[in-house]
Amino acid sequence: MIVPGSASQALSAALADETGRALATPEYHWFADGEERASVADYEGESAVVVATTDSNDAFVELLQLQDAVREAGASEVTTVLPYMGYARQDRAFEPGQPVSARAMAQAISTGTDRVVLVTPHEPDVAEFFDVPVDVLDASPLLAGALPTDLTDPLFLGPDESAEGLAVAVRDAYGAGETDFFEKERDYDTGEVTVTPSDASVADRDVVVVDDIIATGSTMSEAVAALHDRDPAAVYTACVHGMLAANARTKLAAAGVKRVLATDTIERECSTVSVAPLVADSL
Ligand code: R5P
Repeated sequence: MIVPGSASQALSAALADETGRALATPEYHWFADGEERASVADYEGESAVVVATTDSNDAFVELLQLQDAVREAGASEVTTVLPYMGYARQDRAFEPGQPVSARAMAQAISTGTDRVVLVTPHEPDVAEFFDVPVDVLDASPLLAGALPTDLTDPLFLGPDESAEGLAVAVRDAYGAGETDFFEKERDYDTGEVTVTPSDASVADRDVVVVDDIIATGSTMSEAVAALHDRDPAAVYTACVHGMLAANARTKLAAAGVKRVLATDTIERECSTVSVAPLVADSL
């Protein structure tokens, strides 16, 4: 059975359709002290696929409970799909005394599963933190299918160097265009992001800015703002994980972004591209 975490209900339903597997209907109960109990009263079968984006601390706890609940209900094999893995960006101790949060989370998740499927982690090396086999999938090429088919002399742009590979993957899937990336600096005390545009000519071209995640929206809005006085034909913004935390959508709108293209690894209004076929192939 496919077993949805509460943050991955639409994706789980799509995955059940795609794979022909039954969909369990977990119940989530919150006690007065704030603790949660996620149960799977209707679970049956030997092979469970728990699908849970961990975009909050509560979602992490819920995932650990669902893994345990399906074992209690008789599953002898558990696969955990992490459409979006929270804490993956804290993959080293950047300052003395800091935790490697991604490793701590990966080890906890590993205790309840036989296998993990991870969609577009910030760095693929995060897979090494798990104690079970991990399939790393890249959903970025799927974003190409949501773009207009007649882009004008397209330029696929990473807002920082680490996103250049994603820009290349989307360009390759689109089948035409150039790629480039901006230089980015972030002040970790204030969260402020500064981007330095590249020399690429953008005038009269359609520009697609691609990143793995839009979280606070600072990176994407600064990148888009930096393009505006260089007269692009149109600017498209695309990401795998459309978290859009706090006032991100407003920041993007203020920078002139009309529409964000994103997948359903995090379920938001902009999640129009489903990763279900990709995950189904891996299962
Ligand atoms: C950083 O290297 C990531 O690839 C993203 O660019 C970043 O995490 C986006 O975060 P925000 O939307 O908060 O700027």
